[in-house]
Amino acid sequence: MSSALFTPFTLKDVTLRNRIAIPPMCQYSAEDGFTNDWHQVHYPSIARGGAGLVIVEATAVSPEGRITPACTGLWNDEQAEGMARIAASIKAAGAVPGIQIAHAGRKASANRPWEGDDHIPNDAPGGWQTIAPSAVAYGGELPKVPTEMSLADIERVKTDFAAAARRARDAGFEWLELHFAHGYLAQSFFSTHSNRRTDQYGGSFDGRSRFLLETLDAVRAVWPEHLPLTARFGVLEYDGRDEETLAESISLTRAMRRGGLDLLNVSVGFTIAEVDIPWKTPAFLGPIAERVRREAEIPVASAWGMDDPLIAQGLVEKNQMDLVMMGRAHLANPHYTYHLAQVLGVQDPDWVLPAPYAHWLSRYRGAGKKSA
Ligand SMILES: Cc1cc2nc3c(=O)[nH]c(=O)nc-3n(C[C@H](O)[C@H](O)[C@H](O)COP(=O)(O)O)c2cc1C
Repeated sequence: MSSALFTPFTLKDVTLRNRIAIPPMCQYSAEDGFTNDWHQVHYPSIARGGAGLVIVEATAVSPEGRITPACTGLWNDEQAEGMARIAASIKAAGAVPGIQIAHAGRKASANRPWEGDDHIPNDAPGGWQTIAPSAVAYGGELPKVPTEMSLADIERVKTDFAAAARRARDAGFEWLELHFAHGYLAQSFFSTHSNRRTDQYGGSFDGRSRFLLETLDAVRAVWPEHLPLTARFGVLEYDGRDEETLAESISLTRAMRRGGLDLLNVSVGFTIAEVDIPWKTPAFLGPIAERVRREAEIPVASAWGMDDPLIAQGLVEKNQMDLVMMGRAHLANPHYTYHLAQVLGVQDPDWVLPAPYAHWLSRYRGAGKKSA
């Protein structure tokens, strides 16, 4: 049987073997931004399960842009060496290697989620002064008041994004995702919750969009034309003024498309803590992603509770989304894509697994053949 979810997807010169993508998921296991054995095992393991695209976790463009002291970085060439091995291992497993480059802004300098998820004081190990568009704290567990970025700071971070993109390119990644979401630096430039600037980087829609568009532009100049350049962006906040935010987000997406963006990974803003997100509704971002796709005329991907086989298949079948991202399901079962193929009755789904596994799961399955 065929399945819309298991049809190839081509963007620029890159073809994914199916519409399933593993979104970026921080491992909080790096030291000084360097990857290690954990990452070298984790990434090929999840890629072997059959997903079309594997995006490496939020990787900081500068030390102060890390969410935690254990986040990966691409602010120097030595860090790119480990990343090159990861890109090659994802590719060898048949998936397209992607990476998300990021700056955490005022949400940086936090403890790992399982160690509190809260800000580390500046005078404690792993603590540093955060930067953001305005000196407005996120609040709650992240109470540090960031330093308002000067124009020189803004220029430097844009340059850092471009340098990290160049390193990602040279390391062999074929899909780049700019982290413009989740309340981190870029998202906080766009949101009026966090941007109180009165200069050209704040105020009006154009002002609040400027940092994102200029960063995209700086990256576009170094990222190859023939490879997908994408962004993850929170198109709404679930803060009671979503129609207004969504309209602005769609306008920004159109502007980013004109600026060379190839696909938007539609997400939530997470700029403030007091929100009412419909977590219990499966694939709640599906209709939102579809609207962005239609109105901004750009391919879209999305995540958050979209791993049910029939729901995921329906999202692609109904042309709501081009790619369906499934994160935690792949942490629970690195071969989750293979599982989906079986559930959806995709013929001979064993092709998604490498031979040392596939051999035993197809020809000899249940046949009582000779043991090894
Ligand atoms: C352990 C973990 C780490 C994550 N790290 C990132 C990240 O680096 N960048 C990002 O944009 N989202 C991150 N997310 C969000 C995921 O990309 C994804 O949107 C989320 O898990 C929801 O999809 P799911 O319901 O399929 O798991 C992370 C999620 C998890 C569970």
